[in-house]
Amino acid sequence: MTGRGGKIDPVGDLLAISDLHISYAENKDIVRDLRPGAPDDWLIVAGDVAEQVADVEWTLGLLAERFAKVVWTPGNHELWTMPADAVQARGVERYERFVELCRKLGVVSPEDEYPVWEGEGGPARVAPMFLGYDYTFRPEGAATKEEALKIAHASGVVCTDEYYLHPDPYETRDDWCRARVAHTEARLTAAADPEKPFVLVNHYSTSREPTRVLRYPEFAQWCGTELTADWHTRFPTAVMVYGHLHIPRITHYDGVKFQEVSLGYPREWRKHGHPHGLLRKVLPVRERV
Ligand SMILES: [Fe+2]
Ligand SMILES: [Fe+2]
Repeated sequence: MTGRGGKIDPVGDLLAISDLHISYAENKDIVRDLRPGAPDDWLIVAGDVAEQVADVEWTLGLLAERFAKVVWTPGNHELWTMPADAVQARGVERYERFVELCRKLGVVSPEDEYPVWEGEGGPARVAPMFLGYDYTFRPEGAATKEEALKIAHASGVVCTDEYYLHPDPYETRDDWCRARVAHTEARLTAAADPEKPFVLVNHYSTSREPTRVLRYPEFAQWCGTELTADWHTRFPTAVMVYGHLHIPRITHYDGVKFQEVSLGYPREWRKHGHPHGLLRKVLPVRERV
C-alpha cells in the first residue's frame, strides 16, 4: 500500500501462536480455520504443533500457504519419538528432519537467517530459537538435577519427555541444551542491532519468572534454563514470545514484554474459550493485548 508522500505503509501484523497440539481433532479443526487478517501477516509458531512428523508437515504446509511468512521453532512434542510414528528418528537427527521439512515448505526455522519484520511495530529481527532445558529451574530444596528429579518422581509430576524425548547423540537432554544455548548465543551476538531489536521466539520462556505460577513447581525443571536468564536485557529485545506452559498471558520483566501464546489442549481452552484470540499480535509492544 502506498501512503502519502509515496512512502510504503506497513501492512499486516506480526502474529504468534503455539501449542497447537493437532493430534486433538478439535485443535486440528481450529488450525484448519486459521487465516491471516491481511495478506502481509506473518505467523510465528512457537512449538508443540504435534508429535508425528506427518502432522507437523500438514500444519506447517497449510499455514505456509496462507501467511506471507511462517516462523517455526520446535516444542518438546515435535521431538518425541513415539512408537506409532512412521519417522523413528531421534534427537538431533529428528530435529534436522524438521529443519529440512521447513526448508521444503519455505518456513523459517532456527537454523535460518533471522528475518526482519518491517511492518507495524518494526523493524524487528525475528529470532526463532531452539534452546531446550537443563533442569536448572529446580524446585525448592533441590541443589542438583538428580535431587530435582527425585522430588518430581516422589510427587508423581514427571514430564513425558523423560520417556520419549531422546537427546541422541548427546548423552543427556541438558548436554543438548547447553550446546544449543552456546550456538544460539553466538548467533544473537553476531546479529544484535539496537535499531532492529529481536523478537525472541522459543518454546520456553528465556526467563524463569513465568514458571512461578505453575500449579506443580516440580514441573519447571522441564521448562527452560537459567543460562538464558539475562538474554532479554543483554540483547536488544522488543518482545520474548514463548509457549509450553499453556498459560496464555503477557508479563513484563525489566520492562521487556514476555508473551505466552499457547492454544493448549481442548480441556484447557474449553473452560475459558480464547480470551486473547487465537492469533496473538506480538508488535507493537505498547499494545497489552
Ligand atoms: Fe504444549
Ligand atoms: Fe511443550
